[in-house]
Amino acid sequence: MLEHDVLVVGGGLAGMRAALAAHANGANTALISKLYPVRSHSCAAQGGINAALVDRGDDWEEHAYETVKGSDYLGDQDAIEVMCQMAGGEVIAMEHMGVAFNRDEEGRLGTRRFGGQQRARTFFVADFTGQAMLHVMFEQLMKSGVRAYNEWFVTSLIIEDGECCGVTAMEIRTGSVFAIRAKAVILCTGGLGRLYEPSTNAITVTGDGMALAYRAGAPLMDMEMVQFHPTTLKGSGVLITEGARGDGAYLINKDGDRFMTNYAPNMMELASRDVVSRAETREIAEGRDTDGCVFLDCRHLGEQFINERLSQIRELGKDLVGVDIVHEPIPICPGMHYQMGGIKTDVDGRTPLPGVYAAGEAANVSVHGSNRLGANSLLDTIVFGRRSGEHAAEATRGVDFKTFNIEGWVEREEERLRALLARQPNGDRVASIRFDLGTAMNEHIGVVRNEEGMKEGLEKFYQLKQRYETVPVEDKGRTFNTDLVFALELGYMLDCAETIINGAIERKESRGAQFRSDYTDRDDENWLRHILVTRQEDGPVVSHLPVVITQWQPQVRSY
Ligand code: FUM
Repeated sequence: MLEHDVLVVGGGLAGMRAALAAHANGANTALISKLYPVRSHSCAAQGGINAALVDRGDDWEEHAYETVKGSDYLGDQDAIEVMCQMAGGEVIAMEHMGVAFNRDEEGRLGTRRFGGQQRARTFFVADFTGQAMLHVMFEQLMKSGVRAYNEWFVTSLIIEDGECCGVTAMEIRTGSVFAIRAKAVILCTGGLGRLYEPSTNAITVTGDGMALAYRAGAPLMDMEMVQFHPTTLKGSGVLITEGARGDGAYLINKDGDRFMTNYAPNMMELASRDVVSRAETREIAEGRDTDGCVFLDCRHLGEQFINERLSQIRELGKDLVGVDIVHEPIPICPGMHYQMGGIKTDVDGRTPLPGVYAAGEAANVSVHGSNRLGANSLLDTIVFGRRSGEHAAEATRGVDFKTFNIEGWVEREEERLRALLARQPNGDRVASIRFDLGTAMNEHIGVVRNEEGMKEGLEKFYQLKQRYETVPVEDKGRTFNTDLVFALELGYMLDCAETIINGAIERKESRGAQFRSDYTDRDDENWLRHILVTRQEDGPVVSHLPVVITQWQPQVRSY
């Protein structure tokens, strides 16, 4: 019998932080991940992690206010306060674990400025901060002895009498299905970036945890809030860090003009991401682009500086578009980057579904609202990963495992997989449906949206869902059947898409990442509230929740 007090699903930063915290608090803890943990998408985070350190003359309340403003007032201010108060201690803890953050001339931890913030409070490791943090966290996990089920794919949450008591999962190496009993399950599966095509996200980022929770009856909140990063590379959509602009790079259009003077004269390139992405979209729509792109100009930063702080993006530019940023502006455009929405949780990671916790991008604690500030996501993973692990350990102490029909759950999942594998070729492919989903989401639920376009997107979504019902899995074997994994992932992606489209149609205003050409203004009177989507027998049901305001009343937002 496989059983653990606390089972963490997902091996990225939030997952490993949660597992370490649960273990440190005495819980028999395991981590299950479809990837080997250091391949998790946290690895791709480039520019840094925010924290207001008092010895820099910084103040957590300033960080919190800028996060609230960045969120376009949709973030819950009590949760934002918790995150910003804990930030300094958590960043120092990471440094003590071994993350080699860049230093300044005086040998102190160095900072760069990020968007939507007046001060330089982003701690960084060149332009591969996530990778540095992930590897250090993995060392800690190895040292702890926490059991890791690496390359196991979770297929469902086991819910008995309205309570979660474990998961069913397929060991990818053998294709065998198991039930793992747990007193608490923490979903830390990351975002859903590949619902869009292109995206800065790894191919593995498919909304698994959000869909697992949604299928089990937990509400997903603010799913319409999909962040488009202003600097993604032409063609591939690969991330070019905001750290470049933080370090002084310019955005220019095809005529060489720094167009942000027209959109955000104070903060310029470091306005919040939604503002910069919309500005670029307008430049492109009005023809001041080259092949659908504007440019990031780093030339004036100089080769030595670029090599010290932006070496990865220099390599990416050379390899992927043949541009050396030392000598030429690099073509970029807005691209899907992050999901602000997710499984609704409180500040301890608890979801409304007993026994289920969530943290990191899979969760919505409501610290990002309708637009996340750059470098607040790494912070979110370690703060709320830790809190959820600690809370789950505490909540499961002295509690008995629930008994349930384990064989029944395994057989049900086996049957589902057998049925998928038995499908006959019909000319369609999982990869085609996935690509069509990505392009439809990009076209209809992108930087600029409207009712007509979104309804068209919804129609396309229904057609894709129908195709999914019969799409064959070409590899019929059980050993390392990635074709089967892709098919299961596509099911998760479609569930998440349903919640994004429904949320976006429901919200009849423009706020943060949701810009509607048919409702161009923010409407606090009617829409200063969260949108929740819950799955019921006959489809998604939408409901609302008020936003928590503590000290910052909504104001006109300008940069
Ligand atoms: O631009 C970046 O380096 C991305 C950071 C983030 O999304 O937090």
